[in-house]
Amino acid sequence: MFPGEISRLKASKASVEGEAPSGFAGGGGDASPFKAKNLLRRLLVVEPGEGSGLVIDGKRAVNLSSNNYLGLSNHHRIKDASIRAIERYGAGAGASRLISGHTNIIKELEERIARFKSTEAALVFGSGYLANIGIIPSIVGDGDVIIADRLNHASIFEGCRISRARLLIYRHKDMTQLEEILNRYSSYKRKLVITDGLFSMDGDIAPLNDIVSLAKRYEAMVMVDDAHATGVLGKSGRGTMEHLGIKDGVDIQMGTLSKAIGCYGGFVAGDNALIDYLINRARSFIFTTGLPPAIAAAAIAAFDIIEEMPEIRERLWENRGYYFKAVTGLGLDTGMSESQIIPIMIGDEKRGLEFSERLLELGVFAPVIRPPTVPKGKTRIRTSIMATHTKEEIDTGVDALKRAGRELGIIS
Ligand SMILES: Cc1ncc(COP(=O)(O)O)c(C=O)c1O
Repeated sequence: MFPGEISRLKASKASVEGEAPSGFAGGGGDASPFKAKNLLRRLLVVEPGEGSGLVIDGKRAVNLSSNNYLGLSNHHRIKDASIRAIERYGAGAGASRLISGHTNIIKELEERIARFKSTEAALVFGSGYLANIGIIPSIVGDGDVIIADRLNHASIFEGCRISRARLLIYRHKDMTQLEEILNRYSSYKRKLVITDGLFSMDGDIAPLNDIVSLAKRYEAMVMVDDAHATGVLGKSGRGTMEHLGIKDGVDIQMGTLSKAIGCYGGFVAGDNALIDYLINRARSFIFTTGLPPAIAAAAIAAFDIIEEMPEIRERLWENRGYYFKAVTGLGLDTGMSESQIIPIMIGDEKRGLEFSERLLELGVFAPVIRPPTVPKGKTRIRTSIMATHTKEEIDTGVDALKRAGRELGIIS
């Protein structure tokens, strides 16, 4: 629970259910409380293996947990673009964007993103996280209201917290509750509805059509975080809006270059006025060094590939269909998934940990996702499919899930 910032609606119908993901419990430099609760996290050294595979502790594993959904991170055109940019610009931007870190290649990337997202302009941030914590407090503040889906990403909630606006949370995709809140807070001058486009831990898609029409009715702004949808959803990979046939009504389109784009960095796309405002206002844009030029060059190449080679995305959906059928055929609970993100719902943290460890022994990397990343009791193995997975890799993944699932009594 965020200190003091979440206003809980008390009335029964519109009451805010559950809590947004909060900070880590424990503290004082002692990690043992995490261990006792099966919540201890540790870093694994992961080296690239063959194809989409990995090498962990010297052992090869199929990677069932990458956000590099299209496999573009390793695409030769992207690597070449990046190497050429390093040779021209060097490794780092050397300064913040408003000093001397705004090179032609960054300008080109921003124009490329705007074209891809069909907006007037775009602005690149150091990461998606930095984008969210910069955009939200620039748009709303004390005296305003933010209405957010409960399963939005942590960086959105962090942006909300920093903004000091009143934060109201609606049950996941519950449009009745969203409307109740909008109605109740209609007297607020500035209202911002924020949702993930494609939910990062559940793989389901926001009802953005309904959100846009409700926001229009109640004169609220809409922001969508399309981190996991960009490059993936929609006929041309433009994201959730394209997927749902939405042409306008979303004021702020946020995204990241670190998932299907295969690079690093975040962005916002919108009209000129929004972008000009953020350049002058977003602290996580102003007070930090610009994106390395080589990353910008790589991302431009990635957008080109996404547009020129729809077959990569088609392959992703084909792989997703093949895997999803096999996994559901085993009787595993895939929650609400309707995309390349396919959680295997477990519930209990200890069982989740054991499941994930056993998968690794069986040559499959798919880490457990526990609170506070997901709500309590919703521990899962978050699996995700890539366009570059071979059928053999997917079969290895499914076989391991079957074996580990049976051993741990998750599959009867
Ligand atoms: C929905 C969502 N938004 C934002 C981010 C942050 O993006 P980045 O990894 O570029 O900081 C993530 C990352 O996991 C995400 O899942």
